[in-house]
Amino acid sequence: MQVCATVAEVRAARPNFATLGLVPTMGFLHEGHLSLVRASRAANAATAATLFVNPTQFGPNDDFGRYPRARERDLDLLSAAGCDLVFAPEVETMYPSGFETRIEIGGVTEGLEGSVRPGHFAGVATVVAKLFNIVQPTRAYFGQKDAQQVTVIRKLVRDLDMPVEVVVQPTVREADGLAMSSRNTYLTPEQRRDGLALWRALSSARALYEGGERSADRLRAAMAQPVAAIGATADYISIAHPLTLRELDVIGEDGALLSLAVRLGTTRLLDNILLP
Ligand code: PAJ
Repeated sequence: MQVCATVAEVRAARPNFATLGLVPTMGFLHEGHLSLVRASRAANAATAATLFVNPTQFGPNDDFGRYPRARERDLDLLSAAGCDLVFAPEVETMYPSGFETRIEIGGVTEGLEGSVRPGHFAGVATVVAKLFNIVQPTRAYFGQKDAQQVTVIRKLVRDLDMPVEVVVQPTVREADGLAMSSRNTYLTPEQRRDGLALWRALSSARALYEGGERSADRLRAAMAQPVAAIGATADYISIAHPLTLRELDVIGEDGALLSLAVRLGTTRLLDNILLP
């Protein structure tokens, strides 16, 4: 496995691979990230991953400074998973002085995470566009865990005609249902138990849907209950159209994206499912 810190090193290595899958990450890897590496390995001659905690997608009150980092452990995990190339740049490599471009995407960035984290998706779109330009992957792998991010990246690729196939993999969960996340490491044992409220909320709404319920408000009310039961506040509880991410009144033929974000102390947890 080759580890690169500069754009020039990645450019020099790229011709060695006929097809290349890219797994962009911010590191502190878990099974969710590694499932993306495995999916990439199954479909491409070689696989690249990036380790970069991207400052431009964090707001002033976000957790950039304390975001967990474990570079050596991440490199060991990527190597063991069969990754061929890792790009792990410094902040100054990605954003040298004089950098002043931002990719703003409308519509799909307005609700959900976008409504709570202004500027977040401009940071994500800009860094992902840079990573695509640097690595020039055939395919790029993202997790359904960050459903709105997937929608934003699909839009980025379509609107700017990027020659990359976006592949989405299912959310990997702990045995009890909690979605794996690098941020789970912040949770106290009590918060870890409370974190299950997100999965309970999604599961109870899915059960209602499977029983024939199509009213979005009744599903939102069902999702709110487990969150209220742990005394937490949700940033949002959403039943949205799976493509436009507009809030729905009634779930129709296209189904729905059910998602929520909950604050446990200073940690925000996200989860979602697609219906049907
Ligand atoms: P990060 O949070 O490190 O996630 C990297 C990739 O792993 C994302 O595509 C994310 O959706 C996926 N992922 C995280 N948890 C997962 C889980 N439990 N199951 C399946 N996939 C999971 O997302 C980012 O980094 C950044 O925004 C990035 C795209 C790298 C741009 O900076």
